[in-house]
Amino acid sequence: MSLRAITKRFGRVLACDAVDLDLVGGHIHGLLGENGAGKSTLMKILIGLVTADSGTVRVHGEARGITSPMQAGRLGIAMVHQHLSLVDALTVWENVALGDAGRLDRSETHRRIADISERYGLEVEPDARVGDLPVGLRQRVEIIKCLRRDPSVLIFDEPTSVLSPAESTRLFASLRRVVADEGRAVALVSHKLDEVLSVTDQITVMRDGRVVERLETASADPEALTRAMFGRALAADGSRDRVPAVASPRSELALRIEGAVAGPRRGVVGLAGFSVDVAPGEIVGIVGLEGSGQRNLADLLSSLIRLDSGSVSVAGAVVPTGRAGAMAAARVGVIPEDRHDSGLVLDMSVGENLALVHPEQFSRRGIIDGAALRARAAELIAEFGIQCEGPDAPMWTLSGGNQQRVVLARELSALPRVLVAAHPTRGLDVGAVEQVMARLRSAAADGVGVLLITSEVEDLVGTADRVVVMRSGAVVAELAGTEIGGDRLASLLSGASP
Ligand SMILES: Nc1ncnc2c1ncn2[C@@H]1O[C@H](COP(=O)(O)OP(=O)(O)OP(=O)(O)O)[C@@H](O)[C@H]1O
Ligand SMILES: [Mg+2]
Repeated sequence: MSLRAITKRFGRVLACDAVDLDLVGGHIHGLLGENGAGKSTLMKILIGLVTADSGTVRVHGEARGITSPMQAGRLGIAMVHQHLSLVDALTVWENVALGDAGRLDRSETHRRIADISERYGLEVEPDARVGDLPVGLRQRVEIIKCLRRDPSVLIFDEPTSVLSPAESTRLFASLRRVVADEGRAVALVSHKLDEVLSVTDQITVMRDGRVVERLETASADPEALTRAMFGRALAADGSRDRVPAVASPRSELALRIEGAVAGPRRGVVGLAGFSVDVAPGEIVGIVGLEGSGQRNLADLLSSLIRLDSGSVSVAGAVVPTGRAGAMAAARVGVIPEDRHDSGLVLDMSVGENLALVHPEQFSRRGIIDGAALRARAAELIAEFGIQCEGPDAPMWTLSGGNQQRVVLARELSALPRVLVAAHPTRGLDVGAVEQVMARLRSAAADGVGVLLITSEVEDLVGTADRVVVMRSGAVVAELAGTEIGGDRLASLLSGASP
């Protein structure tokens, strides 16, 4: 596939500015760039979700106007979506067969799934309900669904941002097979430089809608890529040497979870006697493998789970679990794992999303003061570097990384007592990742108790005071100080027994 002089404007924003890109069979092409650089827009143009204002697209040498995903599909172009494209209530095979003409053929679809699973190492249970599957498996279903249509071009927009390191490795092993053995072309958007450097063949870097660098991966290095992405080298990080928080024995804990038990839900591990204490000013990292119960912890502190036994206290007072709004009222802030599921309302404005959790700050006698809301939103937009048209811009017009910044700005600015940050750096460009970690550290310096749920060991080093390792809904190990960056954590995460 080859693109020439592709241009797309949204109002005042030039999202793609005369972009050239070639996707070649047998190669993985990496696309890099800071948040809002125009990567997703370009991918949406390839798949026909967005129509370019000008420029040409050639597929197998022939000029084509791609105006819908269906037409892209007929031309052999497929995209692995992260959201919206699977139906939770249906089984895996039904999802895979969806969109086929005529009656859904169970045994034929089962056969195709088994065939693709085997060929690419993408095992999945065809009769499982998609809603019951963890995110890594759902993505596998998406990929099977794409491959079934035998595409010559496969597009991945940040496929690994929601995957654990082990799942990412598996994904890339399958991708290699798709590319090397079958000559398909792959476009891969990612913020993870190490990943791009290890799996791609060529790299294109975008900035402000333009292509600023194009190179063979073999001749690329992280410093040069960062300079191309941001137009400068990022400052070396000297800020990470936190003075560890020391909880004085009498000081009231910010958060105490004691013996939390919650049954498994939809076949996924629950909490099995989980306990943790977080002092004001302390950052406690929570790591675990998929299915460790990490996710339940965030749900518990978002009032989404009711405990069968055990308790949660904030600043010494017990907070009822599973009661809508109770945790927020106790000033527990949550940066959720899936911003589309529970963090944002895409049809509302940026300003409204920023006010979502504590609208009372902007209301008088129950009526929202629009001017106050906008003024506050404008401050947060500036402070957190959220790239958008302004407080009234609809949320869905923001790039992925800028949507994540809205969630961060809202939760950090609400002056929480306890802040639960679940994978807060997902989808952020490498420059923003360091800013977010710095903000978590400064929240802690202001006395907030921080629970940092992550699968990125790099997020923990120099930031977390302690790290708690979870497995099957309970604590299996606790590490502190220099142990956090050490081999023990790495081997625990790769499944060694504590
Ligand atoms: N439908 C739209 N309406 C208005 N503006 C849009 C729309 N889609 C994208 N934009 C704007 O175009 C620019 C590029 O967005 P895009 O989503 O392509 O960025 P990205 O490189 O994928 O960033 P990220 O790494 O954050 O996902 C951003 O300024 C974004 O706000
Ligand atoms: Mg994007």
